[in-house]
Formats: sequence, C-alpha cells, structure tokens
Amino acid sequence: MAPLILRPSSPAHGGAAVARDDGKVWLVNYALPGEVVEAEPRGRQGGVAVAAATRVIEASPHRVAAPCPYFGACGGCQLQHASYAHQLELKRQVVEEAWARAGLRLPPDTAVLGMDDPWRYRIRGEFEAVAGAGGWRFGFHRLRSHSVLPIDSCVIHDARIESALPAFAQAANELQLTGLQNLLLTAEPTGSGLLWRLRFHGREPRWPRDDFAHRVAELLPGSTLLDEAMTLEFWNMTFRVRSDTFLQTNYKQMLVLYQVALDMLQTKSEERILDLYAGIGTISVAVARSGAAVTAIEENPHAVQLGRLNARINSARVEYLPGKVETVLRAIRLGQHQAVILDPPRAGCEPAALAELIRLGLDRLVYVSCEPSTHARDLVGLVRGGYRVRRAAIVDMFPQTYHIESVAMLERS
Ligand SMILES: C[S@@+](CC[C@H](N)C(=O)[O-])C[C@H]1O[C@@H](n2cnc3c(N)ncnc32)[C@H](O)[C@@H]1O
Repeated sequence: MAPLILRPSSPAHGGAAVARDDGKVWLVNYALPGEVVEAEPRGRQGGVAVAAATRVIEASPHRVAAPCPYFGACGGCQLQHASYAHQLELKRQVVEEAWARAGLRLPPDTAVLGMDDPWRYRIRGEFEAVAGAGGWRFGFHRLRSHSVLPIDSCVIHDARIESALPAFAQAANELQLTGLQNLLLTAEPTGSGLLWRLRFHGREPRWPRDDFAHRVAELLPGSTLLDEAMTLEFWNMTFRVRSDTFLQTNYKQMLVLYQVALDMLQTKSEERILDLYAGIGTISVAVARSGAAVTAIEENPHAVQLGRLNARINSARVEYLPGKVETVLRAIRLGQHQAVILDPPRAGCEPAALAELIRLGLDRLVYVSCEPSTHARDLVGLVRGGYRVRRAAIVDMFPQTYHIESVAMLERS
C-alpha cells in the first residue's frame, strides 16, 4: 500500500495539526503546519481520522529536536517538536480559531505570555504506578491509551519531583506494597517541602505508612517529606496547600496569570468582589489585599476549609460561601458586588451560572479559563447577556503541551 503522505496546514486544539487529503480531514500528531509528512493512521477521535507522523519529508523551519526520550510515546507532552516561540504562536491561533468559531473576535492586542525557560516548571505531578519485573515504577499514560509508560525523567517537572520517583518506587518495593495506583507529588516552590499522596486501587488497605514515609525520607535527604499540607508563598502572602485541592501547577506562570487577572480586574479599595471557583483562595486573598472585600464561592469542602484558613493566615477580608457556583449565586442580591473574577474547571460554567452572572450584571468581569472552547462558548453567552469583551491575554501555563490558559476582561455595555 502506498504510504500516507499528509500536508497539515493549521493547528488543532490537542496538539495535532489538521491536514486535508482528497477531502478527508486528518488530525496529525507530531507534525507541524506547513510540513509534508509520512504518517500512519491511528484510529479516530471525535469522528475525525487521526494519524501520527512517522517521517518528516519537508520540515517546518519551526521544528526542533524534542529533548525528552519519551516524547512520542508518553501522553504528557504534545509539542516538544516545535520551537517554544512557535508553540506560543500555535496556541494563539488555536484560541483565535475557538473564538472565531463561537462568533467572537480575539482582540488584536491579545498578549501571549510565555516563559523565559519553558522547562521544569511543574511543581505538581501525578504519576501512575506500574509493576514490572523489577518491581514498582512510576510513569505516565501513553498517548491515547490506558497503559502506563514508566519513566526515569520528566523535563517539565521540578527536578525534585523527578528525583523523588525512584525513591518512592524503592520504598514501595522494599516494603512489598501491593495494589498501588498513583503517586501525587507537589514541591514547595520556595521551600524544601515535598507533599506526597499515594493512592491504591480500590479501598486503601492497611499498610505501613509510617515506615514507608520514613524510608522515603531516608532516600531523599534534601527534601522535607510532608503528607498533610505544604506552604505556597507569593507576593508576601502564605497559603496552605493540600493534595486534595486544586493548585496551579506552574508556579512562575501562576504569578504572571494572577498579575494579568488583577490588572484586568482593577479593584478599587472598599469594593466588594466575587471570586467564583475560588479553590483555596489564592486569587481571593490577592484581591482582598488591595482593600476589597471578597466573597469566594467553591464547591470542594477541603478547599473551602483551606480557603478560610488561608484568609485568616493573611488577615484578608474573604468570606467563603460553600457550594456550586450555579446554586450559590442565586442567593447573591443585586448591587452587593462591583466586579467578579471566575476561574472554572475545563468544562466552563453551567448555563445557570452564566444566567446568574447576567442577572447580577456587575460592571467588570474577568474570566480565567484553561479550555479555549468552553471559554469562547461562555464568553459568547455573556456577550449575548449584555457584556463586551474589552481585553484578553493568553498565559502559557503548560509549555510543551497543548493545554492553553486564557483570560478575558468584559464590561457591561
Ligand atoms: C481551575 S480551579 C481554580 C482555583 C483557583 N482560582 C486557583 O487559581 O487556584 C477550579 C475550582 O473550581 C472548583 N469547582 C469546580 N466546579 C465548581 C462548581 N460548579 N461550583 C463551585 N466550584 C467549583 C474546583 O473545586 C476548583 O477548586
């Protein structure tokens, strides 16, 4: 059979490039727009044929050699074969396309804020456990697969996390642990703490937890092993973080993202601000520092508990209302708040949450999102409800991967 030759022309969300061949659309992984590649079919995704580039016939000038030995097999990174500047440009195009598809125009002055050093940025990683001939190891799911690829290095994680993996595996093997599922590690960005959580398949069995922690600590003398909570510090504020609550995984870019969002929010002293999907209150406390009083809404009870603690630690005027945004907003009366910042998960906002936001009709709204398609969808809903998009920014929280973080500022028109 003749080899499949494809000429991808544009980026797709997900890291692949889109090619058209005889009217048929292909999503081509590990290819860049403008290239000619030989590719192998790899099934279908959302009704579209998928292929993987196996040989580059005409390379893009933006193609680089991926530094990670697992690139192409591991499901973690999709863009290591593109120069970093080009990754940022591809992400801008993906956002522009998502907005255009929803009927919106991305403001032409939208900044794309990347990292000076786009490696080793992750302070949190979740690694799957896999048992092999040599015992336990940790790794990632292979691309579009449930099978686990054991790894010895990961160039996008903090080096302390990378070097902790063999220590956790060794301790698990020495203590003959069984039924391991995954290991979550979070490194303190400004301290030596390493927060860990080991999960088992099914119900957690009785296991020698203290002996295990003790052994790992012996193997990792440079880290302070923490199993309850760790400290996150920025801008002279201190937060408690736990494994069961959300954390921005890229610490350096979290600071950029928060600064962009705060600049867009333009909080004035004595204003009352809503922080929706507030997590452990990092944004709430940062907003409260400018003299505002913040109402934070969050559904995860562990995050609410930590958020209240974090507000106390930082003497911040933050009040938590626990529950789902779409439900809790119903109890907020008109005229109580002046602006809102929201940072929902990938699925975006429930229609009921958007309807409540439109009912409240606050003057300024800053929407932070980690999924361009739901961001664009929700922004259109808000525009139909009487808002106008004034500014937008893309902050690269996830270099080497397809994930995209974008922020938009809307005003009531
Ligand atoms: C992307 S995180 C943002 C957290 C925070 N803004 C930060 O920067 O750390 C989304 C948060 O929304 C919460 N969440 C998800 N769906 C929710 C809902 N329907 N109502 C309230 N909170 C929700 C999650 O528990 C999580 O803490």
